[in-house]
Amino acid sequence: MFCRELNRGKCKTYLIACERTGRAALIDPLRENTARYIAVAAYHRFRFEYAIDTHTHADHRSGTWDIADLTDAKVVMEHHAPAPHVNVHVKDGDILELGDLRAKILFTPGHTPDGISLYVDGYLFTGDTLLIGGTGRADFAGGDSGQQYDAITAKLFTLPDETLVFPAHDYRGNHHSTIGREKTSNPRVAGHSRDEYISIMNNLGLPLPDKIQESLLSNQSAIEDDSMKFPDVAQLNQVHQITVSELRERLAGGTPPVIIDVREPEEYSDELGHIRGSRLVPLKVLPAKTCELENFKNREVVAVCRAGVRSTTAAAILTALGFENVTNLKGGMVEWNEAGLPIERD
Ligand SMILES: [Fe+2]
Repeated sequence: MFCRELNRGKCKTYLIACERTGRAALIDPLRENTARYIAVAAYHRFRFEYAIDTHTHADHRSGTWDIADLTDAKVVMEHHAPAPHVNVHVKDGDILELGDLRAKILFTPGHTPDGISLYVDGYLFTGDTLLIGGTGRADFAGGDSGQQYDAITAKLFTLPDETLVFPAHDYRGNHHSTIGREKTSNPRVAGHSRDEYISIMNNLGLPLPDKIQESLLSNQSAIEDDSMKFPDVAQLNQVHQITVSELRERLAGGTPPVIIDVREPEEYSDELGHIRGSRLVPLKVLPAKTCELENFKNREVVAVCRAGVRSTTAAAILTALGFENVTNLKGGMVEWNEAGLPIERD
């Protein structure tokens, strides 16, 4: 297997390929390096099959969509990933075929709810779940240090000791590690109980990364328009949440809420479908279309999307524009489907 890290910085992007067939994948590409990745692949006569994000990144703009635009690559993310334009949603245990290679997907949430690791031919790409001598922080929205401990100890640490570990970040100039080494010497995990790990992670006191809001919100929505004004953290935190069962009850009542679905048109009729009676107003055109929604300013409005992340942004935008009663469907259409509630597809 061909494997090379392409950034030589703190953020790692891996190019992996089957050397016999030239089928290749990029793991965690940075948007600003798109041209470089395509040039390297052309030099080796590789053909991109997949552009994979191990999770929704908070510290850089993802390059997966640009790579997919310019090559035949399909964008791959975990099933809970909030972003649109993902071509392949994967779940735990799925296999991605890459020529003669088989990449096994391990669902490893905790750093984010949509974290995966990839196990290919003795190489393990751990995203920000397991770092060399560390672990990815779990204090961003949706992070869960207990889940992260379980993913690391019950999933990653059951792989053979000689498995090579390639994380998405490294701040100390390391190249790779092994499962055996991390199991015995990773200071955050080795010899620590789940409770001890949670307490370590709760007390890291790390500052937020630069440009976190810009990177996170553009990666969650795949909006690349730099003029888009995203709400700030305080506005997002004030958004009221409604659960799928609460919404189902509200819809059955006398004055049902107005549902605004902020996904892309192709998602509205994809396998997750949409809620009957909802109106489609994609997030990227929402600020321009609010005049069409004027009549609903005093009504109860519920914003809906794939995973409840883009719709939180939408709810904050509508609230700031004077809509009086806006809530967000927590977990979005993913949870609506998981609850077995009815959907429409056309
Ligand atoms: Fe990350």
